[in-house]
Amino acid sequence: MLRKFMAYYKPYKKLFFIDMFAALVMSLIDLITPQFTSYFIDELIPKGSLSLIYRYLFFLAIAYLIHVICGYVVEYWGHVMGVGIEYDMRKEMFDHMQTLPVEFYDNVQTGKLMSRLVGDLNEISEAAHHGPENVVLATTVFIGSFIMMFITSWQLTLILLAFVPIMFVIAINRNMKFRNAFREMRKKIAQINAQAENNFSGIRVVKAFNGEELEIEAFNEGNQNFADTRKVALKTMAEFGVSVKTFIYSTQIIVFIAGSYLVLNGQLEVGQLVAFLLYVQLFRQPVDRTTQFLLMFNQAMSGFERFLEVLDIPAQQDKEGALEVKQLNGHIRYENVGFAYESNKEKQVLDNIDFEVLPNKTIAFVGPSGGGKSTLCNLLVRFYELDEGRISIDDIDITDMTIQSLRHHVGIVSQDVFIFAGSAKDNILYGKPDASDDEVIEAAKKAQAYDFISELPYGFDTDIGERGAKLSGGQKQRIALARIFLKNPQILILDEATSALDNQTEIEIQETLNKLSQDRTTLVVAHRLSTIRHADEICVVTQEGIVERGNHDTLMERQGLYYQLINTQQDFL
Ligand SMILES: Nc1ncnc2c1ncn2[C@@H]1O[C@H](COP(=O)(O)OP(=O)(O)OP(=O)(O)O)[C@@H](O)[C@H]1O
Ligand SMILES: [Mg+2]
Repeated sequence: MLRKFMAYYKPYKKLFFIDMFAALVMSLIDLITPQFTSYFIDELIPKGSLSLIYRYLFFLAIAYLIHVICGYVVEYWGHVMGVGIEYDMRKEMFDHMQTLPVEFYDNVQTGKLMSRLVGDLNEISEAAHHGPENVVLATTVFIGSFIMMFITSWQLTLILLAFVPIMFVIAINRNMKFRNAFREMRKKIAQINAQAENNFSGIRVVKAFNGEELEIEAFNEGNQNFADTRKVALKTMAEFGVSVKTFIYSTQIIVFIAGSYLVLNGQLEVGQLVAFLLYVQLFRQPVDRTTQFLLMFNQAMSGFERFLEVLDIPAQQDKEGALEVKQLNGHIRYENVGFAYESNKEKQVLDNIDFEVLPNKTIAFVGPSGGGKSTLCNLLVRFYELDEGRISIDDIDITDMTIQSLRHHVGIVSQDVFIFAGSAKDNILYGKPDASDDEVIEAAKKAQAYDFISELPYGFDTDIGERGAKLSGGQKQRIALARIFLKNPQILILDEATSALDNQTEIEIQETLNKLSQDRTTLVVAHRLSTIRHADEICVVTQEGIVERGNHDTLMERQGLYYQLINTQQDFL
């Protein structure tokens, strides 16, 4: 995993080395200053020459200046590298997410995806930058200060050395705890995100059912869980901090005791003792940095693990040498199609489905809820891949076409239209991003959306809210239809395109739909049978597959399921 992580540094090699170099220079300067202090106290001051002192101080000032500059490099350019890595990872992740099949989104909570895409990667970026830097700083200062201590006073160093193994034991022990705590924490925060996202998008249902209390309770639980997990992590951290401090302070006291003994015995100069104490102080740095590093590293690695998890989900890809279809007549054929959803492989949703639609003809699917009508339609645009059989358009297997070109020729209008946050125009343009304003207006007119859009406060530029919250159901539907008019595909799927509407609006939109399906091959799914009466062929789909087919008149004569369905509906009408 670490190797994979390293690969992300590649584009930033130069920055990385500059950053590391600056960190190295900083730690070297940190290492020589105590020596300098000792020299200052033991040699320079007794000599009593101010000019000599000033000369030395000049060098010290230069060294500090370099330290400050390197600090800037590490702070700024190091972060720039981290941000770059974060950008690359986020781009890779989002790009990959766009290639994932619909199936993936069926089975995942959007809030959780969000927290991976935003939170996780942010932490990874921090670690990507501070991690290596901390390692360099910590090791050089650790080794360096040991060497310098040894040079200053080997007796004191030996005493100190006895304590080091204790510290390592503490650090390693804590590391394991950190790691688990952070993995838990990440899961919990993703849960919070998912819960909130779910709540916000369903806020109308929440309010209509007076579900606020329940929602707050559920959210609180998630929030509490997170707080508890975080407390565990923080406790581990604080305990580690205490151990480190105790270690540092006790070593300092010991150095004081042993050091003053050595000074009194004439075995150590005062300046050397001061330098040694400064090294003990400095020694704190690698310990702190290691703690910080472990913390970040663990946080980042558990995030990175989840990042890789997403990347490892196979993309829905075109076949090798897939065909970029330019033009389709719309001759659709389903042969022996069988399908079951991945999440419920046991249940065969479609089995042995066979039908054919000639170009510009309309085929309708009716039948009981859950029979598989929507699934049938969705297979045509490869939202899901077939388990058995073959679907072809103009005798080309749909898996032999590029997914993009296939979808380019198919327009889908379904019951729950999706409106993007943005203006009316943006939403219509989604059908053909490079369309001119005139084309947009033309499409809106055809979809009978022009009038109401013109009456909006800013016309076509009016923001219509997330998911079209500021529009009526019929208006949303019309925007979705304008999108399709603009896209102008050869094949049209109308999956209960009007069932969300009241009778009057439905009649109005039905006209639009009839207009839309002219000169296109159309697959219609409808519960209200009046709307499909004139279809060229009607198929009755049940759990058993297509049980009846023919046009309205032949099916009525047959007095089978279709006949029954018509009769039950007439009772209501
Ligand atoms: N994404 C999915 N994952 C798993 N199972 C699904 C999924 N979508 C639908 N199903 C199941 O597949 C079956 C067929 O669903 P489908 O939506 O195709 O029915 P339908 O005929 O369109 O019903 P309706 O008339 O109510 O729209 C149902 O049993 C449903 O539970
Ligand atoms: Mg359906």
